[in-house]
Amino acid sequence: MTADVKETVRARYADAAKQVLGGGRGDCCGPSGCAPCGCDPISSDLYSNSETAGLPANAVLASLGCGNPTALAELHEGEVVLDLGSGGGIDVLLSAQRVGPTGKAYGLDMTDEMLELARENQRKAGATNVEFRKGEIENIPLPDGTVDVIISNCVINLSADKKRVMAEAFRVLKPGGRFAVSDVVIRGEVPAAVRKSMELWVGCVAGALEEQEYVALLAEAGFENIAVEPTRVYQFEDAKAVLTGAGLDTEVLAREVGGRIMGAFVRASKPEMSSKSCCGPECCQRG
Ligand SMILES: C[S@@+](CC[C@H](N)C(=O)[O-])C[C@H]1O[C@@H](n2cnc3c(N)ncnc32)[C@H](O)[C@@H]1O
Repeated sequence: MTADVKETVRARYADAAKQVLGGGRGDCCGPSGCAPCGCDPISSDLYSNSETAGLPANAVLASLGCGNPTALAELHEGEVVLDLGSGGGIDVLLSAQRVGPTGKAYGLDMTDEMLELARENQRKAGATNVEFRKGEIENIPLPDGTVDVIISNCVINLSADKKRVMAEAFRVLKPGGRFAVSDVVIRGEVPAAVRKSMELWVGCVAGALEEQEYVALLAEAGFENIAVEPTRVYQFEDAKAVLTGAGLDTEVLAREVGGRIMGAFVRASKPEMSSKSCCGPECCQRG
């Protein structure tokens, strides 16, 4: 199941990247993060004109997120930022501007085509404090305690092992580090048919965590100060657009799902003194 989800997700985003690299994705066509059309209710109009003005056109066109994590993450000069599932790199490039030349922005993605697109966008932007790495968010290729802020935009919902993602995020953060993530979150129950659909998983909805599950998983990983703030709540018509093409009874399901799917900003922090990073009772006492 986990491998199936990963391969389906990878193939979908490889196609999305190829469309942008080949010039085949206009402003409102082609696959997007969460719906079959680029002008879908989840991924459209997330960034202000002043944010996109300084970015390569393909970084903006490839934006497949469901929020604007760098606008909410309060990044500071000199910080190290890691974007989980960085796609075409839009949030990495925005983070790099915010942390400046003394900081660093890492992007992590498992899809070669997305990495190629992101590196091309980095070159065009002339960003020198940026590094895109290949890897999986369930096995982050960075050492323990090296990151100030983890951002992510509509990716954790795609993972079939979210517990592992939270544990990895916690591991690489410095004590006091922040988790500042945009994601699709469900409020209450969604119908079992939606949960089962692979097509919808790739489009974000079926794999999305319920709000309280999200909070519980973060707490289990060791995070504190956890909050889920809705940034966009999708209504009946939006849900219909997201469910279209999945072979489900979209009218009926949209009525049940509308209003319960939201784009949310999820924040949490790693405690300054973390019991999860203790090496034993003596080491804790010394801290
Ligand atoms: C919905 S897109 C979002 C891209 C980017 N965050 C944005 O806002 O445009 C999902 C991205 O996450 C990557 N991805 C999905 N699951 C992943 C995983 N388990 N490990 C690493 N990357 C993953 C995909 O390759 C794709 O580039």
